[in-house]
Amino acid sequence: MCGIIGYVGQEQASSILVDGLKRLEYRGYDSSGIAVLQRGHVEVRRSVGKLANLEQTLSGGDLQGTMGIGHTRWATHGKPSEQNAHPHRSGNIVIVHNGIIENYLSLKVHLQQEGFQFESETDTEVVSHLLASYMKQSQSLSEAFRSVVRELQGSYALAGICEDEPHAIVTVRSGCPLVVGQGEKASYLASDVTPLLTHTRDMIFLEDGDIAVLTPGDITVMAVDGHRVKRKPTTVDWSADAAEKGGFPNFMLKEIHEQPQVILDTLRGRYSYDSGEADLPDLSITSEELSNTKRIWIVACGTSWHSGLVGKYLIEEMLRTPVQVDIGSEFRYREPMIQPDDLFIAISQSGETADTLAAAHEAKRLGARVLSIVNVVGSSLARDSDGVIYTRCGPEVSVASTKAFTGQVVALYLLALHIGRIRQQLMADDGRWWLDQFRALPGQVEHILRQEAEIISMAKRFYTKSNFLYLGRGINYPIALEGALKLKEISYIHAEGYAAGEMKHGPIALVDEEMPVVVLAPRHRLYEKTVSNLMEVKARNAPVIAFVSEGERELGGIADFVFSIPHSHPLMSPILFTVALQLLAYHIATLREVDVDRPRNLAKSVTVE
Ligand code: AGP
Repeated sequence: MCGIIGYVGQEQASSILVDGLKRLEYRGYDSSGIAVLQRGHVEVRRSVGKLANLEQTLSGGDLQGTMGIGHTRWATHGKPSEQNAHPHRSGNIVIVHNGIIENYLSLKVHLQQEGFQFESETDTEVVSHLLASYMKQSQSLSEAFRSVVRELQGSYALAGICEDEPHAIVTVRSGCPLVVGQGEKASYLASDVTPLLTHTRDMIFLEDGDIAVLTPGDITVMAVDGHRVKRKPTTVDWSADAAEKGGFPNFMLKEIHEQPQVILDTLRGRYSYDSGEADLPDLSITSEELSNTKRIWIVACGTSWHSGLVGKYLIEEMLRTPVQVDIGSEFRYREPMIQPDDLFIAISQSGETADTLAAAHEAKRLGARVLSIVNVVGSSLARDSDGVIYTRCGPEVSVASTKAFTGQVVALYLLALHIGRIRQQLMADDGRWWLDQFRALPGQVEHILRQEAEIISMAKRFYTKSNFLYLGRGINYPIALEGALKLKEISYIHAEGYAAGEMKHGPIALVDEEMPVVVLAPRHRLYEKTVSNLMEVKARNAPVIAFVSEGERELGGIADFVFSIPHSHPLMSPILFTVALQLLAYHIATLREVDVDRPRNLAKSVTVE
């Protein structure tokens, strides 16, 4: 998730662009840049790191011009570097991009054959050269854009300027948010309303397929065939702070609700439905090495450790390969008996967690191939691994990890499918069947998010309690752990996650009418056994919150609350239950008036032992 911005008017563009980028920094901040048309030439300035570095670069005030575009980056293709930072140039055209161009590699080959030289590792640079190629036979930049978008696959919001058109910015939306607005003899574009709020409250939210041409006094919207399109402006009365959170009260709730998009983005361009295969170009671990892997290790911390535990159940069931899961702080000191042909997987949202990093270094020292599942492109863990699968969650700002967990589980699904197809344990039909399950997840998560009111009712009933117990079996045992962690870290209520079958070996002594028990009981082969555990706690007068598969009726008269998740294959239920449990923890914490984005004692990334 990156932020793009554009301005054309009567004032100096560079300060307007930088101020706008500051309001978009929450969308990504590993590098940034602006381009300004100055005396007939487009000048580009780019910097790695925080926006302050770009400001430093511009402090000389040498950029004079009243039209420009800008970008703050959350890397998806290519590490954070000045070469990979936007804007990207081809000849006298410069562009900025938010999103993912899925077919960039095939387009890049054709453009290289056409003689274009590439400087960056990004998918975006392909678009700049494609535009330059089409400009040769187009009457205008907007006409060239109309030709280019017909060739692009993926999700994108683009903005471009050309030295031959000194008063026009062209911007295009397909699958990524894009807003345009007019101020005093000026026009603006941005990835969301935040940067525009200080200039205008009347904005046009472009729709997929829209192409807009911005000039100082006008905004023209057209379709890809050139026909003009009427888009009514919307008056936005949000504060800047509210806009940064997309209208949500805090980042945590915003990030919980971003999860359908996270699943889509993490899957995007990483499978071929025809062949039923996953496509993981950054894996850098050969098919032969994966085929010969006798054992898989997964090491992580906190929520990422929970997704690793889900990975164990998933990989052992799909591939029958033994998986050993460890928390980083234990693995690094227990002289693990890892073998050179083992596959070591490190999972980390930040890619900077000290214990996970140290574990990965230890595994490498012992000769194992190291694969990381990371959200931050170019992070230490990503750089120190042999291969990487990036979760495309965008910045996870809230300390409590939510969407990163979902992205991690989706990455594990793709990896299991990839290995299963390589080993021929899964045939093409099996692969297509699994891809159907993965692609159903965004809609199923949306369905759960729409039932938020039911979760709020539960929260209202139990937010004053001091202890919770979460029970799950099989692949949902890690989800019981995750649900408990979410609750304790943001509400400060003591909560324990336990294997449902193990609860009678001790924790049941804690159970009474003051201890709500959350039971994850999806319809699968362990359902009856889980219901027995539910009855055991019910017999001790515990209030019970049962999370079941859609259509289950029998627990209605037994549990105090029954929440249904969409029917799915048992291996797909972890994400669905987790989203519901994130909402439960969030609403309980909110009722307890905790600052959910910054809970006490916690850091977003634990970079020390
Ligand atoms: C989860 O909500 C916590 N913020 C914490 O447990 C976190 O998952 C853990 O510190 C690991 O962080 P990482 O994914 O960045 O490595």
